[in-house]
Amino acid sequence: MKNLKDKKILLVICGGIAAYKSLETIRILKKNNYEIKTILTKSSKEFITPLSISSLSQGKVYDDLFSIENESEMDHIALSRWADLILVMPATANTISKLAKGSSEDLASTVILASNKPIFLVPAMNVRMWEHTSTKENLNILKNFSYKIIGPEIGEMACGEYGEGKMTEPINIVNRINEYLFYINKNKKLKALVTAGPTKEYLDPVRFISNKSSGKQGYEIAKSLSRIGYQTTLISGPTNLKINEEIKLIKVETAEQMFKETQKYLPVDVAIFSAAVADFKIVEKNDIKIKKKDELTIKLEKNVDILNYVSNHNSMRPKLVIGFAAETNNLESNAIEKLKNKNCDMIIANDVSNKDIGFDSDFNEVTIFYKNKKKEKLSTKNKSLISEEIVERINNQLN
Ligand code: CTP
Repeated sequence: MKNLKDKKILLVICGGIAAYKSLETIRILKKNNYEIKTILTKSSKEFITPLSISSLSQGKVYDDLFSIENESEMDHIALSRWADLILVMPATANTISKLAKGSSEDLASTVILASNKPIFLVPAMNVRMWEHTSTKENLNILKNFSYKIIGPEIGEMACGEYGEGKMTEPINIVNRINEYLFYINKNKKLKALVTAGPTKEYLDPVRFISNKSSGKQGYEIAKSLSRIGYQTTLISGPTNLKINEEIKLIKVETAEQMFKETQKYLPVDVAIFSAAVADFKIVEKNDIKIKKKDELTIKLEKNVDILNYVSNHNSMRPKLVIGFAAETNNLESNAIEKLKNKNCDMIIANDVSNKDIGFDSDFNEVTIFYKNKKKEKLSTKNKSLISEEIVERINNQLN
């Protein structure tokens, strides 16, 4: 994997019996040409020594937030920016709990909190601790922050019990990181375009026709694509949502503007049309406010179907075109019809009659209909987790 030369890893070693495996992990990382800096938590030093880590890693070992020497050399923000990736091992139940609460009580937690880089946690703990609801809830919080979790495995633990909680073997940890960084590198060449949110079709300067779309699912998809390296453009109707600066955000109001902007950013490798585009626009928009006493007849005409246009425009057609179908009834037949009529590779369908999922909710439950007639249901989840799953499928198809 010659693309992975000169990658920088910040290794955070926590206090657990599996901490000794960090030595083997460092050895394999070095063999794979990683530059390593390490933070040792206070309790990790009960299990390993700074000297063994610095000798093996040939890199700086940090262990105290308030050390004058460390502060003058590299502050905690600089340290979190230095790394391409942060690897936390063994991620104990206590570490997971502290990170889920956003703690910043020592150097390790402060650096992680200040980081904008991918963070990998490698949990290791007793099976009962792993199975405890509080650990599961904390992990869900961290997954929603997009932390990546490696393992744990089922096996015999240091405490003598058997079950899920054993730390993943160092070679598998490094393989997973290699694979992740390899794809990020490769994906940098790939371009994605996402439409999201509602559109507004104005009757006059203050009144418009619109819909209930919050844009959340589209924004989450754009974030997931960007996280795995895609150059992502998000063309969004009016929403209150924020997006990371790595994503190019184009704000529009009307379907016509969305169409124009979409054309500007083609060609792309994948286009995901999650916007709830108004199907109709007002034929003649009033330039001044319509008054109550005015006779009012609204004439509508169809907006251009952006998805349909892009997927049938041969010279510009992205390798993957993905549409959404928000339905209140006949979900499957409507979705399959849209898949065919709009010449899509996938249609992501959801039932918007259920108030707990869909439009304004943070949760969604979708069924993906594929061109090859397969279908796949993704169970109810936070929209950010649904996005990770959708993007995983997009990435598999493109790679
Ligand atoms: N879409 C689009 N441009 C439009 C209308 C829809 O790009 N003018 C896209 C949406 O972003 C979505 C898909 O087409 O990916 C399906 O949209 P939907 O409104 O559900 O379908 P329609 O074709 O408008 O059919 P209907 O409203 O009759 O269900």
